[in-house]
Amino acid sequence: KEKVGQMTQLDSSFFVKKDGKPEDFDAAILEKAIVDYGIGSVLFAPQDKPSDPSPKNWVKMVSEFRRYASKAPNRIPLLLGIDSVHGFHTVKDATIYPHNLGVAATWNVAFAREEAATTAAEMASVGLNWNFAPVLDVARDPRWGRTYETFGEDPYLVAQMGSEMVRGYQAAGQVAATAKHFVAYSASNNGMDRQPVDISERTLREIHLPPYEAAIAAGLDTVMVDSGEVNGLPGAASTFLLKNILRDDLGFTGLAVSDFGDVTAISARHKVGATKKDGIEKAFRAGLDMNMVATDLESADMLLALVNEKRVDEARINEAVRRILLVKFKLGLFEHVVPGTTGVDIDADMSEIATKLIGDAKSKALARQLATQSITLLKNESDTLPLSKKLKRILVAGVSADNIPNLCGGWSYNWAGALDGEVAGKTILQAIQGKVSAGTKIEYAPDGYDAPALKKSAAAADVCIAVVGETPYAETTGDLPSLALSEDQQSMLQTLADAGSTVIVVFVSGRPLVDMEWADSNASSVIWAYLPGNEGAAGIADVLFGDFNPAGHLPITVPTSLAQLPLTYNSRLNTVYEPLYPFGYGLSYTTFKYSKLTVAPSVKVGAPLDVSVTVKNTGRVAGDDVAQLYLSDVYASVTRPTKLLKAFARVSLAPGESKVVKFTLAPSQLSLLDESLKWVEEPRTVKLMVDELAQEVAIT
Ligand code: BGC
Repeated sequence: KEKVGQMTQLDSSFFVKKDGKPEDFDAAILEKAIVDYGIGSVLFAPQDKPSDPSPKNWVKMVSEFRRYASKAPNRIPLLLGIDSVHGFHTVKDATIYPHNLGVAATWNVAFAREEAATTAAEMASVGLNWNFAPVLDVARDPRWGRTYETFGEDPYLVAQMGSEMVRGYQAAGQVAATAKHFVAYSASNNGMDRQPVDISERTLREIHLPPYEAAIAAGLDTVMVDSGEVNGLPGAASTFLLKNILRDDLGFTGLAVSDFGDVTAISARHKVGATKKDGIEKAFRAGLDMNMVATDLESADMLLALVNEKRVDEARINEAVRRILLVKFKLGLFEHVVPGTTGVDIDADMSEIATKLIGDAKSKALARQLATQSITLLKNESDTLPLSKKLKRILVAGVSADNIPNLCGGWSYNWAGALDGEVAGKTILQAIQGKVSAGTKIEYAPDGYDAPALKKSAAAADVCIAVVGETPYAETTGDLPSLALSEDQQSMLQTLADAGSTVIVVFVSGRPLVDMEWADSNASSVIWAYLPGNEGAAGIADVLFGDFNPAGHLPITVPTSLAQLPLTYNSRLNTVYEPLYPFGYGLSYTTFKYSKLTVAPSVKVGAPLDVSVTVKNTGRVAGDDVAQLYLSDVYASVTRPTKLLKAFARVSLAPGESKVVKFTLAPSQLSLLDESLKWVEEPRTVKLMVDELAQEVAIT
């Protein structure tokens, strides 16, 4: 019974007193679940944010669970999980980092790792020890409501960012990371959330597995299973995914947890198995270790009955519990001490530490740097940007210009995003006001309803800065079949254009939108700021007024229209790829020139390959560029993607300065998935490309 308990994860809402606040737990329920059943884990889903979300109250809330676990027969500590997907965002005054799509646009893996380490430290300060992050889904269709949670469409970029985040979360040994959602969750047939996925094994292995491989190599502790169905089986019931791929092929030895309620969903939603108990049998036989049941203890009883009825082998139970306990040992939970506390009044000590740490100046500075580095300049006709701080009149238009929740997106404070006033920070309007000279008049037009007045203001302004985008959403609620801005935002943009003024469009959105095509045709400059978090506004103003030279590069393709979807740069050869802006694209206020792409003309199978290239800042201001090395197969035994990102480096250069960028490609990076779906270093000719330069290399 205790082993089966360990395999059970309940949501904190399960423990709440009838009609109580999210933090009012019922002693009898705590006793029953934690002491009698010995459950292994509790999760704090974002909807369970305490009514007083101060660090002190978080400490109190989490400690209550810890105390009950210490009364359980074997004093087995709990894994205490949460979705800190861009900072520990459910706590008051948290620093809310850019969402992952923006982090990927920085191409700065060191920052990604630092963000993760900071987040883990904040979580650990209130006693949480398991983060359901990073998301390693590879974006395939921007209509998907979780696109912003991804690191974009390239397996290598996702792998680099994701594995550094795993290292960051787990660096101090206090928090376990979770790679999710295993696997191909992003690949639904129609681009919508939790819709069926039909995927070839080739695409599964080429596109969706590499990030997991990298995360596992980085020491990943846990994996969360895909909530949808893949090739006709719910993720949580798939032996092919959970055993053949995850364990046998990828060699993962950590713990696999289901997503929220998904084991129940095997029969209830997917209609696989006649009863809930059948679904539980399927999941644990397939290789699941922990059931994020979330809301009942009946599932634990059913699993116990299944063991007694010999429908689930006890060896399978032992295997799962061993994995769960190993994570707990690795995190040092059996030491039963809370680092940094004296043991006299643990809660008071923790509260003091947490209050100091959470949202401190260091994390804010990092969030601002990340947001600033992510900002991607998509168009800049006649060097409209950067703007002078001495302009006479600037019109700032659009609701997102004066709104913090929109900068943060979903999973910010609440599951579906923050409410007005909940999150501290500057709005873009305030940041712009802080930049300009005393003589500059800033007019703000919150929306486009009063078109004649807006047109008049636009015509009178030296420049109009239109901030458009999305309001927060999470998961399925964020699916957007139209990929379009709201109609009032569209008409606002049209009014500004009709006024004949200089228009700069700033997109604050978690995905590319088809209106980027409109902006490209009608505006002077276009910027994409992704979902930059509560420190993002300052970064946007820095870029607009030239205090920072933008160097974000697209981690995802921007299509010209819906009709092009699905559209990714790494599709197979002969796929038409004519996007509005390609993967990897991004402008700067300076110019860069690449030269001397140097690589040996041939390399032996099994040997690494050194590549170097010189990049020079040929403009008049300092700036960063992202050197991107791509490989394309001149020929091979199977059809191959048009090109594939193999290495990258973000490089800072003073005006006139040159740097030599060096990459070493491991033999595995030269391999391909052959006809029998095995990675092999096949002798062939490949082409290596950086910017406009290309060199052929024979692999012999
Ligand atoms: C999401 C997961 C998340 C879980 C727990 C689910 O709805 O799909 O990404 O970790 O909830 O909050």
